[in-house]
Formats: sequence, structure tokens, C-alpha cells
Amino acid sequence: MTSTSKVERIQPEQAEQVPSPAQEKDQVHRVLLGKKQILVTEDEPLLIQLERAGIHVEYQCREGYCSSCSIKLLWGQVSYPFEPMAWVQSGYLLACCAIVKSDIEIAFFE
Ligand code: FES
Repeated sequence: MTSTSKVERIQPEQAEQVPSPAQEKDQVHRVLLGKKQILVTEDEPLLIQLERAGIHVEYQCREGYCSSCSIKLLWGQVSYPFEPMAWVQSGYLLACCAIVKSDIEIAFFE
């Protein structure tokens, strides 16, 4: 009886921690890279999240100065919390400071 009542108390708490579909849609975006798909949030720059997913990205400064983290953006939207000092070529993004704002597709070698 005791273990059964514990389970009944825990279930509603667990349900509250699951984000609603609307919340998840606003905060989580898909990044397509070849045949891979990675889920990212708007809380951190893309570079950190790609690295966490085990994807190696070239970088040097990690602060928007050198453009060594430049990645081809095939489609989708990103924004920058600050204006990068490095030149961002049209159709590319700077992974170290780009915040993903929609589902996107990227490529390394184009
Ligand atoms: S690592 Fe230097 S601009 Fe991104």
C-alpha cells in the first residue's frame, strides 16, 4: 500500500516537468546536418550544442572575431546576441555566437 501511494504522488509531478508542445516548439529547433538531426535550444550558441552532440567544428576565438567557425546555412534562421566582429558571408553563420531561431539545415563543406 505504501509503495502504491508513492507512485500515485510522483506521477503528477513528473507530468508537470514535461514541456507542453507549444513550449517545446518555441524553444527547441532541429538542426539538420547531412543525415544527422540534432535538437538545439535558443539558450546557447550553436557551437556549444554541436560539440555536445559530438560534432567537431573548427574554431579559434569562440567570440565572433576570427570567422573560423563559419558554417554554410542552407536554410533557416539564426540571430546574434551581439554583432560579430568577423565578416559573416551571405549564406553562412558563425557557430560560436549564432543562436538558432528556427529549424535549420547546415553543411560544413560547400
Ligand atoms: S570561433 Fe572565431 S568567430 Fe567563431
